[in-house]
Amino acid sequence: MIVAIDGPAASGKGTLAKRLAAHYGLPHLDTGLIYRGVGRIMVDRGFPLDNVEIATTIAENLDLADLDPERLRTKDAGEAASVVAAHGPVRKALIDLQRAFATQAGGAVLDGRDIGTVIAPDAEAKLFITASAEERARRRFRELVGRGEITDTPAGFADVLADILKRDARDSGRAAAPLLVAADAVTIDTTALGIEEAFAAALAVVEARRR
Ligand code: DC
Repeated sequence: MIVAIDGPAASGKGTLAKRLAAHYGLPHLDTGLIYRGVGRIMVDRGFPLDNVEIATTIAENLDLADLDPERLRTKDAGEAASVVAAHGPVRKALIDLQRAFATQAGGAVLDGRDIGTVIAPDAEAKLFITASAEERARRRFRELVGRGEITDTPAGFADVLADILKRDARDSGRAAAPLLVAADAVTIDTTALGIEEAFAAALAVVEARRR
């Protein structure tokens, strides 16, 4: 069984993907980490993020085993990821590795922006996880403050919200595999849901689609 989970930044899709993978004993791939990996290498080596050729070469040589979540879940890596992810050739270079993960024997859970639409269009279960921009900003803000990346001030929150809105516009507005709800996906709005409620809703969808 392939479970495809898409949604905007900080919608809770990563948490749900992890929970579903643990529930079914399936491997999980957070595909955002792949784009973050490319963005991080570009920034670390001082390459301009709009250099499509260099970003594509980095994508072609990326190894899943090298992606360290600790270093990649930062604000600047997310921003860089969103920029390089808009380059068509970069996305193309990363398709095979994601499809290989999705189609491994026994199944897999993948989360990202284009899993149900591009990477695994035949996935048995497709979820689109969303929440209001304000709620997503609140969650991201708490996470960043908790990690000591930003200070707990109203201006800090305003920055995070602006960042979320900018990221939404970029991820949804790009020509290459924009964030879209797959025709056969079930949307879960987690704005008013706690983690357990959201998990129960997601589990019900996957159970209904399981063959
Ligand atoms: O899910 P995330 O915040 O870790 O993703 C970081 C960026 O990577 C996101 O802004 C857009 C891009 N991305 C993408 O274009 N396609 C994916 N399947 C996953 C992430």
